[in-house]
Amino acid sequence: MTIAILSALPQEQEGLVHALSDAKGTAHAGRMFWRGRLHGHDVVCALSGIGKVAAATTATALIERFGARRIAFTGVAGGLGEGVRVGDVVVADEYLQHDLDASPIFPRWEMPGYGRTRLPCDPEMTAALLAAAQACVAEAGEDLRAAHATTAPRAHQGLIASGDQFVGTAGASSALAQGLRAAGHEVLAVEMEGAAVAQACLDYGVPFAAMRTVSDRADDSAHVDFAEFVRVVASRYALRVVDGFLRR
Ligand code: ADE
Repeated sequence: MTIAILSALPQEQEGLVHALSDAKGTAHAGRMFWRGRLHGHDVVCALSGIGKVAAATTATALIERFGARRIAFTGVAGGLGEGVRVGDVVVADEYLQHDLDASPIFPRWEMPGYGRTRLPCDPEMTAALLAAAQACVAEAGEDLRAAHATTAPRAHQGLIASGDQFVGTAGASSALAQGLRAAGHEVLAVEMEGAAVAQACLDYGVPFAAMRTVSDRADDSAHVDFAEFVRVVASRYALRVVDGFLRR
């Protein structure tokens, strides 16, 4: 059974592709797909691209063309939830699309044709990712001190919101969090791809899970924190969590 590892950033993918044995690259749909073996699994690695459409296209290609029967996503996200800090890891148990609005025809955030707002993640894969993330944060002290984190990192599990928008002001992030909270959606983190992959996986019946390392607080300094975090931490973090995930 082929497991796809979808990364948001080249820095995250690099170490993974390096770790594959018998790695073979194929160009398809303007992207590179890397097949190989890792910890006894057939694995295919790809970059999601940025934004929901790019991510959905990549997920579809992984399933249709490369035979992926599980998809695990690693990336970074802006922390929205209280107590979700830079350096923490958020493992999704559900996703929603925060920029989806077909009201008044459908309720705000509901996916037309699906009769639902939230997209599920696979419980078994999610549990394995969470366990790998917990082990990773426990030993991540060095990297995080380098990224100026002041508190011990934590792993969280919960709802992540995706949209085609980098949330980079305190006003935008609190409006987003409060709007969703008022409708009963307590969002831990925001990013730009996961819900699209979750939707493609739901359509194909392919189990999906995702973990996001918190690179910024989606506030006025988000762009600075993001760049520094990606440079110092994200690559090593993603490799460790995927490693732990595949061993489980
Ligand atoms: N990915 C990482 N940080 C983000 C942010 N602030 N908004 C959207 N996607 C992100």
